Amino acid sequence: MYSRLSNDISPFTVMQLVQRASEFEAQGQRVVHFEVGEPDFQTAAPIVAAAHSALDAGRTKYTAAQGISELRQCIADFYKSQDIAIPVGRILVTSGASGGLVLLASLLLDAGDELLITDPGYPCNEVFAKLVGGLPKKVPVSAENRFQPTLADIQSAWGEKTKGVLLASPANPTGTMLDADELIAIQGFVAAQGGFFILDEIYQNLTRDHVTYTSGLSLCPDIFVLNSFSKYFGMTGWRLGWVVVPDAAVEALTKLAQNLFISPSTPAQYAAVAAFADDAMSIHSQRKETFETRAKILYEGLVALGFSIPVIPDGAFYLYVDISHTNMDSADFCWRLIEEYQVAVTPGYDFGDSDAGRYVRFAYTTSEEAILLGLERIDQALQDWGLKV
Ligand SMILES: Cc1ncc(COP(=O)(O)O)c(C=O)c1O
Repeated sequence: MYSRLSNDISPFTVMQLVQRASEFEAQGQRVVHFEVGEPDFQTAAPIVAAAHSALDAGRTKYTAAQGISELRQCIADFYKSQDIAIPVGRILVTSGASGGLVLLASLLLDAGDELLITDPGYPCNEVFAKLVGGLPKKVPVSAENRFQPTLADIQSAWGEKTKGVLLASPANPTGTMLDADELIAIQGFVAAQGGFFILDEIYQNLTRDHVTYTSGLSLCPDIFVLNSFSKYFGMTGWRLGWVVVPDAAVEALTKLAQNLFISPSTPAQYAAVAAFADDAMSIHSQRKETFETRAKILYEGLVALGFSIPVIPDGAFYLYVDISHTNMDSADFCWRLIEEYQVAVTPGYDFGDSDAGRYVRFAYTTSEEAILLGLERIDQALQDWGLKV
């Protein structure tokens, strides 16, 4: 009775762990959460205040499908502050990056068209392609190349039906960025095939100081870029994001946005304008520092426990951790950790098939105190399981 697509989607393994975690919590036990892919902070107060004012002022009607001009201007200024000139007309506000992915898949893929995505990668990517009858094709990436595809990987995966690539920088679950030269080379190859290049930059700004570029738009101005208010701006539940598209795509994308979404959430858009003001920006940047401190504690703690983290991430709030020294499969490892020690971690299986049994994703979207407690519990687990190195 239901569609092939709905039957085809597998539920995330982590949802069973989350369910188990909430059962423990209902019994009054404390769970350490390393599985959550969203900031633990509340949305910054100036943004919340702006939402209240917007509602009081009656900002509750539809807006233009592209989003309100104030917000689009803020986004353009945000790029300008990174020395990237993007005309406002190329920016469309969306219902989260997820809404952006629906729009770009609808714009760029026809039934039977292939889209190259990475494995491991953000698990929903393949669903967006399938939604419009597209065929996601997974390109395995490994620690050897910092979990990002090389030009050669893309060249060899590219086939007759391939229409484009969707890559993320920094990526989920690995937090690594595409090397600037590789990005340019891949874009050159894709353009020569007449294909499209979508770069997911939803973790933009949650990056370390050593990174060589902030947005791929500074290197390749004509790519499609996805971004969001969810992560750096701490607005996951507001469901707001944006896309930057080449000039030629604006009209068609606007038509799709009008038909599929009418407009993004109006109060959320007015709130998001305040996300770019100095007071909110300084809160975001302090939070980024907090993530950085946590990353260090978690990284050092896990390495001291014998785990290997083959690639130090460039950003986001994840560590992709090799658990092979435990001789356990990642699903088994995660299940036993929650069941026996009330520590929730996401198995590699939720991000693809490539080496999935060997990796788990730790998100440091929890307090330092919780991270230390989690490390203590994992230490205990390894001792109890006879795996302490
Ligand atoms: C790489 C990546 N892209 C897109 C999304 C969707 O984000 P949102 O719809 O909240 O903007 C996520 C969410 O975790 C993600 O990790």
